[in-house]
Amino acid sequence: MVVERTFLAIKPDGVQRGLVGEIIGRFERKGFKLVALKQLIPSKELAEQHYGVHKERPFFGSLVGFITSGPVVAMVLEGDGVIASARRLIGSTKPLEAEPGTIRGDLAINIGRNVIHGSDAPETAMLEIALWFKSDELNDWTPSDQSWRVE
Ligand code: RTP
Ligand code: MG
Repeated sequence: MVVERTFLAIKPDGVQRGLVGEIIGRFERKGFKLVALKQLIPSKELAEQHYGVHKERPFFGSLVGFITSGPVVAMVLEGDGVIASARRLIGSTKPLEAEPGTIRGDLAINIGRNVIHGSDAPETAMLEIALWFKSDELNDWTPSDQSWRVE
């Protein structure tokens, strides 16, 4: 059985504002399994590939400039339904429209400073995980309390 994985990245604003623990903690408490985690300052090439779908949009240059402006905390989470669930936990792209209780709803006010990225579909999750991580950076492991999370 192929277990679902998603790619998440705490953006430079989340790192600069000291929200890394707060954000990772929300996914840990939810029960998803962290299988990869690292901090890096993305290169321009990496950022342009990651947001390639937006390359014709007027905000593309500033988006790439922002994502490459400082450290990002990149991670991969695993679990059934994790791609859609992580997007719900993150909330709407526009933080002022994001529901309270979501990461963007609770922690952000501006579309260009919305603290976290999450893959939006299975195909993009696969591409983004491969773009940001080498296969030997992904850990196969079983949490000791797994049977208390999933029957
Ligand atoms: P992300 O990819 O970062 O997780 O965000 P998302 O799926 O919620 O939104 P997406 O449409 O993929 O947009 C990517 C990022 O581009 C910035 N953006 N700015 N000024 C604008 O109109 C505008 N639209 C999008 C946001 O920072 C968004 O997260
Ligand atoms: Mg997106």
